[in-house]
Amino acid sequence: MTKPAVLILLGPPGAGKGTQARMLEEKFGLVQLSTGDLLRAAVAAGTEAGKAAKAVMEAGKLVSDEIVVNILRDRLAQPDCARGVILDGFPRTTVQAKALDALLAESGQSINAAINLEVDDAAMVTRISGRFTCCDCGEGYHDTFKAPVAVGKCDKCGSTNMKRRADDNAETVASRLVAYHEQTAPLIAYYKARDVLKSIDAMGDIDTIAADLAAIVKQATA
Ligand code: AP5
Repeated sequence: MTKPAVLILLGPPGAGKGTQARMLEEKFGLVQLSTGDLLRAAVAAGTEAGKAAKAVMEAGKLVSDEIVVNILRDRLAQPDCARGVILDGFPRTTVQAKALDALLAESGQSINAAINLEVDDAAMVTRISGRFTCCDCGEGYHDTFKAPVAVGKCDKCGSTNMKRRADDNAETVASRLVAYHEQTAPLIAYYKARDVLKSIDAMGDIDTIAADLAAIVKQATA
């Protein structure tokens, strides 16, 4: 039996990881696992992990490795992940990367590719400040770069219920960028050393990046 694919999308806040992961999910039938979404769900549900994560996320810092690895381990154990997964926002530290290696080794799996989305810091701020999401189906939008066809109405599900994230303000974005450069950027060298790193220029438009990514995913999962 073929082993389920494991793909990692690396990149700073606002690089387009979530946007691209959702497109890959549809195109390849993989499951998007966003630790940001899992943590926001835990905060909304008021779980112990969510209570511990809330203030940290609002400050733009990284939630503890222990909490994040536990959340990811539980999610990876669910049956739909047998279709293969796209990790969006995980791992974010070397400790998390090593924990992922150990988790995958338990089930005889390995990483097909860690794909780094390369974006300038200035572009991230512009992308994050214009972002909003459909509350009902989770589709992501942008005031300038990906506006819904009808103003205020989701193209996918027709909902008019949209939200903006609490951590998408200038001060928190600055902290998230610091956390990225200090704690997450070293993973580029980590995956390069393991010969699974791929990099793409993520400064172009959404569809061009999606095509470049699809080519990498096809090759990495062949
Ligand atoms: P998380 O939710 O993972 O946020 P992030 O990494 O900061 O990434 P974003 O969701 O902001 O950006 P994205 O790259 O997905 O961009 P998107 O596609 O939306 O994490 C939030 C917090 O949770 C963290 O700060 C931390 O506290 C905690 N956390 C999560 N995981 C953790 C972990 N593993 N360890 C510890 N703590 C963790 O795109 C952004 C916007 O740009 C959208 O509006 C989109 O429409 C637009 N856009 C996308 N692509 C393009 C393009 N090519 N051109 C123009 N616009 C574009």
